[in-house]
Amino acid sequence: MSRVLYPGSFDPLHLGHVDVIEQAAELFGDVVVGVLGNPGKTSGLFELDERANLATSTIDASSTLRGRAAVDVFTGLVVDAARDAQVDFIVKGLRTADDFETEQQMAQTNYSVSGIRTVYVPCRPELGYISSRYVREIARYGRDVSHMVPDPVADALQRVFAPGEDSR
Ligand code: PNS
Repeated sequence: MSRVLYPGSFDPLHLGHVDVIEQAAELFGDVVVGVLGNPGKTSGLFELDERANLATSTIDASSTLRGRAAVDVFTGLVVDAARDAQVDFIVKGLRTADDFETEQQMAQTNYSVSGIRTVYVPCRPELGYISSRYVREIARYGRDVSHMVPDPVADALQRVFAPGEDSR
C-alpha cells in the first residue's frame, strides 16, 4: 500500500475526478486530494477552501472513499505539496491525448526538480468528456449539471446560481 497525492484545481470537483480518486484508493490505499491554485486559470468560481469542503463532503458521503481519501489545501508547487503530505507518488487522471502531452511535461519537470514520480490513471471513458470549465459555464446559465458532479457540488452550484442568490 502507498500514499499518493492527487493534485488539481477542482473548481469544482466533478465525477471524472471522483473516478480517479476511487481508482487511486483501490490501487494505492491512501489518497490525499490536494486542492491547489492553478496560476494559469484566472476565471475561478469557488475559493480554495470551498473547493476543499465540497471534496470532503463528497468523500464523507461515499462508502468507497470514506477513510481512504482525505482533502488538503496547498499553495505553491505540487512537488512541495507532495513533500509536505509525505506521499510516495503523484497521481494524475488522463482523459485525452492532449491531457497526456501536458501531464507528461509536468511529470518530467516535477521528477527533475524533486525525484517524485507521477502515475497516470485513465478515467472511465463515459466520464472523459467532463471538465470543470464547462461545468462552471453551463451552471452559470442555470442549466442542470447534476449528471456531471457529485451531489454536494450540484447543491453548491444551485445555491450560487439560483436567481437572486450569490451568483458570483
Ligand atoms: O486541475 P488542474 O487545473 O489541471 O490542476 C493543475 C495543477 C494544480 C495540478 C497544476 O497547476 C499544478 O501543479 N500547480 C502547482 C504549481 C506547480 O507545481 N507548477 C509546476 C508544474 S511542473
